[in-house]
Amino acid sequence: MTKIQSVVRGVGGYLPERVISNDELSKTVDTSDEWIVQRTGIRQRHVAAEGEMTSDLALHASRMALEKAGLEPADIDLIIVGTTTPDHTFPATAALLQRKLGISHGVAFDVQAVCSGFVFAVATADSYLKSRMAKRALVVGAETFSRLLDWTDRTTCVLFGDGAGAMILEAQEVANDAPEKGVLVSSLRTDGSHWDKLYVDGGPSATQSVGYVRMEGREVFKHAVGMISDVVEDVLEKTGKATSDLDWFIPHQANKRIIDGAGRKLGIPEQKTIVTVDRHANTSAASVPLALWVAIEDGRIKPGDLVMIEAMGGGFTWGAALIRW
Ligand code: UT7
Repeated sequence: MTKIQSVVRGVGGYLPERVISNDELSKTVDTSDEWIVQRTGIRQRHVAAEGEMTSDLALHASRMALEKAGLEPADIDLIIVGTTTPDHTFPATAALLQRKLGISHGVAFDVQAVCSGFVFAVATADSYLKSRMAKRALVVGAETFSRLLDWTDRTTCVLFGDGAGAMILEAQEVANDAPEKGVLVSSLRTDGSHWDKLYVDGGPSATQSVGYVRMEGREVFKHAVGMISDVVEDVLEKTGKATSDLDWFIPHQANKRIIDGAGRKLGIPEQKTIVTVDRHANTSAASVPLALWVAIEDGRIKPGDLVMIEAMGGGFTWGAALIRW
């Protein structure tokens, strides 16, 4: 008897060239480096250039992931892009990315779960691979979140940034008793009753405009740690693992205080937690794959490591996945 494992073949990332420091921001909005660092841990954010779109950032990250995997675009038959800032209302940014990669076979679609988009996309790709609907998936989190910001609203504009991360998952058929590898288990949740605590006040159907991010920061903060812990514990329980089995914890990078709070609640030491929010700010669906990319490139995540990813965002949506590298 055999089973299919969704194995990670490569990870890539991309950050736009332009960096905006807290000090630079504080020249145009009533804030300070001290407030932003103390409340969020953020020191700077990358912002896409004029005309640089989400699919462009996704393309850079995807090409790098393909290179790391030693694969060509033609080898991919499933593209899922987690994004809340698509180039256009339609078609899906995944379709535009597919075109930019020069391929036209397979299936490509977006997943809209805001900051949880990458975790939702990983779980979706894993299901496609395990049910033999695809062989190799390009899973992307990509955002030009700066385009959704009201740059006069200090309660939101200091928090976000742009970027993209990509991961290639491959279906590998192995004996039933083969050692565990790849995506082991995912846990996803949504509770739409919280929709108006974090949303965009525009959209094609509601206003025929794009709109800006609106957030009750304190309310989101209040729910974040509990929701994150719930899905992480669910994944651990389903796989029979303990937090002490984890080699790396890759949390969504929204706020250092939320990351610390979740780590404390779950009993995961700081040394096992990857933090990029100081340099990237909150890049929504791109935050987890960017943190993965950073930790692989600097040699922290190695083959055989057990890696927990998690995210929480608008909807509310939240989710976690456990991956054996
Ligand atoms: O991926 C999920 C997406 N979102 C999140 O995860 C965000 C979750 N929430 C948070 O991270 C935090 O709630 C924030 C960072 C947004 C805010 O931190 P806080 O400690 O909850 O501050 P607060 O909202 O309670 O505001 C404290 C004070 C307020 O002034 P008053 O009313 O006490 O006079 C704000 O007006 O800080 C003020 N304030 C600022 N001051 C300087 C709010 N934003 C700023 C700012 N600079 N940028």
